Amino acid sequence: MIIKELKTYFFNELIEIHGIDEVESFYFILTEYLHGLKRIDLALNPNFEISEEEVRKWEAIISELKTEKPIQYIIGETWFYDSKFYVNEHTLIPRPETEELVDWIVSKFPKTQNPKAITVLDIGTGTGCIPISIKKNIPQAEVFAIEISEEALKVAKRNAVENKVEVHFILQNILEVENLSLSLRAESRSLNSGKFDVIVSNPPYVRNLEKQEIKKNVLEYEPHLALFVEDNDALLFYRKIVQLAKESLTESGQLFFEINQYLGEETVELLEQLGFKNIELKKDIYGNDRMIRCNL
Ligand SMILES: C[S@@+](CC[C@H](N)C(=O)[O-])C[C@H]1O[C@@H](n2cnc3c(N)ncnc32)[C@H](O)[C@@H]1O
Repeated sequence: MIIKELKTYFFNELIEIHGIDEVESFYFILTEYLHGLKRIDLALNPNFEISEEEVRKWEAIISELKTEKPIQYIIGETWFYDSKFYVNEHTLIPRPETEELVDWIVSKFPKTQNPKAITVLDIGTGTGCIPISIKKNIPQAEVFAIEISEEALKVAKRNAVENKVEVHFILQNILEVENLSLSLRAESRSLNSGKFDVIVSNPPYVRNLEKQEIKKNVLEYEPHLALFVEDNDALLFYRKIVQLAKESLTESGQLFFEINQYLGEETVELLEQLGFKNIELKKDIYGNDRMIRCNL
């Protein structure tokens, strides 16, 4: 079969379920994943020949896409902040909004000849997309990351190896930590000062009451441990992390959060109550309140 015919078949099979834009995006992800062909290569080689064995791979993927399983879980990878990350059912698929958060952090530490060494902590690391991207872009940073899920941590460690950076990963339930510096020093001897210049987190923040607006591909396939909090205590993780950060940020340290778009004001209020200053609430590219930066 030639790729032009395969494209028609692919679109016909999936368009009713996913709509044209999404099917087009799947198609380009798969041509690159399965054949190493970028858009320009496809335009130049409309008669590229697909072997029978390769057609069978397309068919298997089409069947999975029909179940609305996210394409990232089907192929086991995704791109985040210009790097490739391995993903599986134990990890949230990194989102573009989180890339914006990473970009905000990276912009605070411009490259200079003698950069100041800094320490960074990410809480609830999932694939490790935040600490790994920070380490790649702020190489002088000593980077730590906490995660409750052992399986997710395996994925994060693999991603650090594949992206050739060192991150200190720690298996821990943040809700049970009493003192971050003490608890991390016990886990990792590299934490000298015991304090952080940056603490960042994209914790679980979706309320159960928001479930009805969540698409099937997220609800049925992404880990609920990474997503949901109780309706009556939606800021649980924020409160805990803010309390811990008060003791564990350096004097000029900064706290960054990704937040629930509906809870921007409440999150700002919480930070004010707990003594944080210079609170900046920032929107994502879709115009939703999505991230916060502040300091003590
Ligand atoms: C919203 S996901 C974010 C994942 C990743 N940082 C990202 O931005 O793609 C939240 C992460 O927090 C982890 N998590 C949930 N409860 C936790 C806890 N009590 N302590 C530490 N990590 C936790 C989840 O397993 C999940 O990986």
